[in-house]
Amino acid sequence: MYLQKRSRILRANPAIRSMVAETHLRTSDFIAPLFIDEGKGVHQEIASMPGYFRNSLENTVKEVKALHDLGLKSVLLFIKCKDELKDNTGKEAWNPDGLMQRSIKAIKEAVPEILLMTDVALDPYSSYGHDGIVKNGEIVNDETVEALVNMSLSHAEAGADFVAPSDMMDGRIGAIRNAFEKNGFSKTGILAYSAKYASCFYGPFRDALDSAPGFGDKKTYQMDYANRTEAIKEALQDVEEGADILMVKPALAYLDIIRDVKNAVHVPVSAYNISGEYAMIKAAAKMGWLDENKAILETLTAIKRAGADLIATYFAKEAMQLLQD
Ligand code: PBG
Repeated sequence: MYLQKRSRILRANPAIRSMVAETHLRTSDFIAPLFIDEGKGVHQEIASMPGYFRNSLENTVKEVKALHDLGLKSVLLFIKCKDELKDNTGKEAWNPDGLMQRSIKAIKEAVPEILLMTDVALDPYSSYGHDGIVKNGEIVNDETVEALVNMSLSHAEAGADFVAPSDMMDGRIGAIRNAFEKNGFSKTGILAYSAKYASCFYGPFRDALDSAPGFGDKKTYQMDYANRTEAIKEALQDVEEGADILMVKPALAYLDIIRDVKNAVHVPVSAYNISGEYAMIKAAAKMGWLDENKAILETLTAIKRAGADLIATYFAKEAMQLLQD
């Protein structure tokens, strides 16, 4: 057989394959989400996220040290709010002595080099489990944005490096940026969840934080998964309003969106390899149906290949360990 081109030449052995690989995972790609709980000595496995834990603050600090020792650059903090502190204003979200604010300070003090990102949305604090303030059964935009600004300022004040608004209200990026400028937080960044879809894959996360919506769903603020161009509109608007980094979420069923957004903007793009995506791999591996380590690396490489510069993932630790081998 005479062939002018033989593509298999570049696949012949590990040496040539690694030389021509187009995508490389690095430890600096990962953002590790962490779930923090009140109390002491808490190390509670999340039922629908085997191998992932909700920790009290002192255990979280230990975990951040361990992750930093493996080379991790950044963590994304979520807290579980006590039921008695939840209401329809979300005011616990900007309590200067709240669990989030105490966590930011303690982690910064223990591991000053780690970049601290904080989730900004009202759902963990909302008695309705919604990302915003509820009036007559509706999630109201503009009052929610005021609350998100208060929340962001209190995170910046406590020492967060980036706030990460995950709420999908209109105009919140500009409002937060303005408030940062006015209040002397010109060094605090914004990682904007620009294209966040109303997804069933958030289920395990809502178990982790006990934050499932009490009525209805999140479709009046999170995006419709049928839409693609709308993600570009949202992304461009957030860049315009001052976002430093954008986020597409979820990741796996949305690889086309990651690529579209990456091609449309000139800021770094991150993707969130969310709880349901973690749970699927864990469940299949537990059944013996998938090789977990291979599935992790293939998944994360695919997300990066699609265009993500950064990946928030519950597999951060395992992936860093695998990359060291
Ligand atoms: C809440 C928030 C959610 C996630 C991150 N921030 C859930 C939601 O919007 O209901 C999901 C993360 C995951 O599933 O891993 N604003």
